[in-house]
Amino acid sequence: MAFTASPAIIRNPISKQNMVVCDMLDNTCRKKFSFRNKGIYKGQHNLRDHLTVTNVVSPSRVIAPPPPPEKRSETTGDHQHHVAWTSIPQERWEGELLVQGHIPLWLKGTYIRNGPGMWNIGDYNFRHLFDGYATLVGLHFEDGRLVAGHRQVESQAYQAAKKNQKICYREFSEVPKAENFLAYVGELANLFSGSSLTDNANTGVVKLGDGRVVCLTETQKGSIVIDPDTLETIGKFDYSDSLGGLIHSAHPIVTDNEFLTLIPDLVKPGYLVARMEPGSNERKVIGRVDCRGGTSPGWVHSFPVTEHYVIVPEMPLRYCAQNLLRAEPTPLYKFQWHPESKAFMHVMCKTSGKIVASVEVPLFVTFHFINAYEEEDEDGRVTAVIADCCEHNSNTDILDKLRLQNLRSFNGEDVLPDARVGRFRIPLDGSPYGTLDAALDPNEHGKGMDMCSINPNYLGLKYRYAYACGAQRPCNFPNTLTKVTFLYMSILIISVEYNPTYI
Ligand SMILES: [Fe+2]
Repeated sequence: MAFTASPAIIRNPISKQNMVVCDMLDNTCRKKFSFRNKGIYKGQHNLRDHLTVTNVVSPSRVIAPPPPPEKRSETTGDHQHHVAWTSIPQERWEGELLVQGHIPLWLKGTYIRNGPGMWNIGDYNFRHLFDGYATLVGLHFEDGRLVAGHRQVESQAYQAAKKNQKICYREFSEVPKAENFLAYVGELANLFSGSSLTDNANTGVVKLGDGRVVCLTETQKGSIVIDPDTLETIGKFDYSDSLGGLIHSAHPIVTDNEFLTLIPDLVKPGYLVARMEPGSNERKVIGRVDCRGGTSPGWVHSFPVTEHYVIVPEMPLRYCAQNLLRAEPTPLYKFQWHPESKAFMHVMCKTSGKIVASVEVPLFVTFHFINAYEEEDEDGRVTAVIADCCEHNSNTDILDKLRLQNLRSFNGEDVLPDARVGRFRIPLDGSPYGTLDAALDPNEHGKGMDMCSINPNYLGLKYRYAYACGAQRPCNFPNTLTKVTFLYMSILIISVEYNPTYI
């Protein structure tokens, strides 16, 4: 089965947990997508009889006319025709997609994704993939049909940029240009208070146990509640506690029962592990991990959990206060690579907050953990924690490779960063060292595993399957859907063709 894929649907390239799936049994999602209920199917009752058609929409469903195509940047030479890295042409759209193949009639529900989708304001083009303003994409499956929509998240940063036709907040790789020295000093003061940081919630979207749907990014202020029915922005998600901190893990662990997050402490290097219950906006501290290396905590884009433990990674790619203050991007943006500070994995008991293991591991670079589980001996005693991630061979080049100019410059030579499935083994017997090895031969999956998903029922448990974006090289885009069977170490790679048709 295939459906005509819009750029927004296939874009969202960096987040594995950047989606929510709303079951139709859930009342919060019953009214989803205002457009799916009425009239849209009128006169189109035989859609599934014409499955070879790959057209997208009835023009009447386009809400806003698309703006003129982006200009090719004269200064950077960016090739805008690579649709995956091209801004969406309108703020919102909704309509029915025609499918090739067959959507099972039992499939009912809505899948919502979030990610960077707009990389320009007026004539000004962003430089880095992570700077793009957040675009929500919803796919609603029902009665064998597929209704889709996308909409911009109305963050303060996006609204200000639209109004002023320039960036007004500190984004991932760019900062607003100060008009004079006094303005620069004021902007620095705002940085310390957090008010100049972006709230562009472009990294993920989660459904809390109470049904609220929240878009997230690395800044805490970039937590924004949206309406899953319409993809409309409702407003800021305010944390009612006083834990402070300006940043947090972009990918919390979210289940029906809890929301777990890591809050880096940039002053006294370490991490707070915090939990929030459904129906509450108050995070409560489970425990604290002090960093063992470096003068600042390692970047924690995501982290894994097991049934009983929270695993806190301490990566040698660390937050860097000096780089935060700089007006121009550095090679590693807000971060710095400190191999001399070493790498560590910490294991904290979820209930007591006690650290049960803290081991040195080989240097690593990862954005996305896949899963973790507890390893037991024949007597059922937990002897180790296994944690899997998409690991970039301890190479920080990925940050540079994800500049848009690089991604858009595909001319047949491979430009997609390498990634492997890295497997940590963290012994719980007091040993000072853990291990990190490739769980699979990277050559079998094109060295491109990232943005993995698993069956959420296996969160924190021994698991068998993982699904990932992969690569058939050469490419500038994760162009395969890859299924991994861990028990047999087998890999199934499914090529994904996409139709670069705008919606
Ligand atoms: Fe991510």
